[in-house]
Amino acid sequence: MAREFLVPKKIINGEGALAKAAPAFARCGSKALIVTDAVMKELGNLQMLTEALDASGVQYSVYDEVNAEPTDTVVHKGVRRFASDECNFLIALGGGSPMDAMKAIALMNGYEGKISDFMGKRFTRPACPMVAIPTTAGTGSEATQFTIITDTAAQVKMLIASESLIPDVAVIDPAFTKSAPHGVTATTGLDALCHAIESYTSRKAQALSEVFSLSAAKLILENLGKCCETPDDLSARSAMSLAALQAGIGFNNASVTIIHGMSRPIGAMFHVPHGLSNALLMEACLRFALTGAPGRFAAVARYCGIASDANDNAAAESLIERIHALLIELQIPTMSELGIERGAYCSVLEKMADDALASGSPQNTWRQPSKQDIIELYKEIYR
Ligand SMILES: [Fe+2]
Repeated sequence: MAREFLVPKKIINGEGALAKAAPAFARCGSKALIVTDAVMKELGNLQMLTEALDASGVQYSVYDEVNAEPTDTVVHKGVRRFASDECNFLIALGGGSPMDAMKAIALMNGYEGKISDFMGKRFTRPACPMVAIPTTAGTGSEATQFTIITDTAAQVKMLIASESLIPDVAVIDPAFTKSAPHGVTATTGLDALCHAIESYTSRKAQALSEVFSLSAAKLILENLGKCCETPDDLSARSAMSLAALQAGIGFNNASVTIIHGMSRPIGAMFHVPHGLSNALLMEACLRFALTGAPGRFAAVARYCGIASDANDNAAAESLIERIHALLIELQIPTMSELGIERGAYCSVLEKMADDALASGSPQNTWRQPSKQDIIELYKEIYR
């Protein structure tokens, strides 16, 4: 059956990408609203961007209030800034949060309602031009049609999707990722690994997405540990930035599955960063999903060179064992270490399971989870 395959119009990837992006900035518009967070300013990343904009003759205004995973409040304020500062395009600088906020602001430009109006709807509303500059190697948001915005009143992470949310230009400069601390490098890298494996083992996988998903999984398993151990290893950082982009392209065209479906409710209820909530779920969810498509998981293991066994179940098991070891190596904390109390957690299991299923992502898993399956998995991962 014929399938669509979507990527950004222009991708500028590799060392020196920011310097090379000047003409692309100027083609997007004359004044940008830079959507970022205060840390980007402290690290000097914002200055690197503004110097590049000065060189290309593009004016800008800075909205640096996306200091956590974006909420409807942050988005609505950004929309007002975009209009009052008379900007005509957007640049996101940062991790997934500024990129997701940028997409929602671009979509809302000139719209009178609320961002929640778009949740779960098919729409073709055009967004204004967008440039995404990731400073972590993880979310892949620079290449996707998705944005996740928290509805503060409902305590729900809204998944909003439209082709018009794919950034026009993605600038992937690995130099930015060197400043990411260990925890951010580890959890965002694991987010990308989830994108790669979930998209390859999704019911919606297609021939083109599989290429990107497999390549990403291999690069991540070979380089994530190196980035955490030696933060200045630019070769490993470059490989991870490329992998995060590839994984983003993979899941943009094949969707994610059970891990992401179950991860968003944990993030919304307990304010756990996205990559970390994925990491908490990863091993248990993959073990659950494996029996629905052992051949798919075995193919990932064989491509990544961690299994040569002809038996699919044995090869797939090698992948889970490799991930188990990686999670220990990266020192992922437990829920109790994160300060999530068992009583509070158990009291919202029903809501989290309902919200997970409502997102539609768990249904992309070959082994379809019931609500009870999801509740049991949530219980299993509490430590
Ligand atoms: Fe993700």
